[in-house]
Amino acid sequence: MPKLGVNIDHVATVRQARRTVEPDPVWAAALAELGGADGITVHLREDRRHIQDRDVRLLKETVQVKLNLEMSIADEIVDFALEIMPEQCTVVPEKREEITTEGGLDLLQNSDRIQRCVDRLLEAGIEVSLFIDPEPTQIEAADALNVHAVELHTGCYAEAKSSEDVSRELERLLIASEEALERDLLLHMGHGLTYRNVEPVAEIPGVSELNIGHSIIARSMFVGIEAAVREMKALVSRTADVSME
Ligand code: PXP
Repeated sequence: MPKLGVNIDHVATVRQARRTVEPDPVWAAALAELGGADGITVHLREDRRHIQDRDVRLLKETVQVKLNLEMSIADEIVDFALEIMPEQCTVVPEKREEITTEGGLDLLQNSDRIQRCVDRLLEAGIEVSLFIDPEPTQIEAADALNVHAVELHTGCYAEAKSSEDVSRELERLLIASEEALERDLLLHMGHGLTYRNVEPVAEIPGVSELNIGHSIIARSMFVGIEAAVREMKALVSRTADVSME
């Protein structure tokens, strides 16, 4: 059964809309844990548009499940990660003008800078995951970097509208998953996953972690974070039971 990492960035997005103290993502993390989250994920962006340094420092002290820091390869951010020492860092591409992460890291471009970032994190004993598109060439490049895991970008699957497109994108994820598992990489997935589309992804053999943010935080406005996490966790767990029948 895949573990559920809950991305709480958007709690901080609401707080930053007023540059005030509430809602506090640290509270959100505690409630997500109560709802059954296996991990808490935050993205400390270079422009600090939502999560702040203070949040990551406090989360490191308070989170009892896995703390996963999403981050760019910028030296300043890598320095910060090495100071905080989260259990896992997921390296993502970052563009200032984007609304959210668009596409996976291109490991064939900027490979020297990516390698330097990955090596610094690995040398410090942090588990490293690379957020990449579900392409065999990217998985091969990730393997060459000696990372622990790849997080396959599920955005194209999530955005697919027709059933043909959904099937095609699911097939791409399946093929890339097999490639990652053959190379003994841990298999994570995330981006754009919702209560409606998560089940086929959770059923992919070997997937060990799903990172889900927007859909859970959106639902939590109406049902509370604990319940929203519990509902997602039930869906992810249920699919695991079905696939074993
Ligand atoms: N995984 C990665 C690497 C991401 O960058 C994000 C978005 O911050 C997510 C998962 C979660 O995506 P969503 O908010 O669409 O669930």
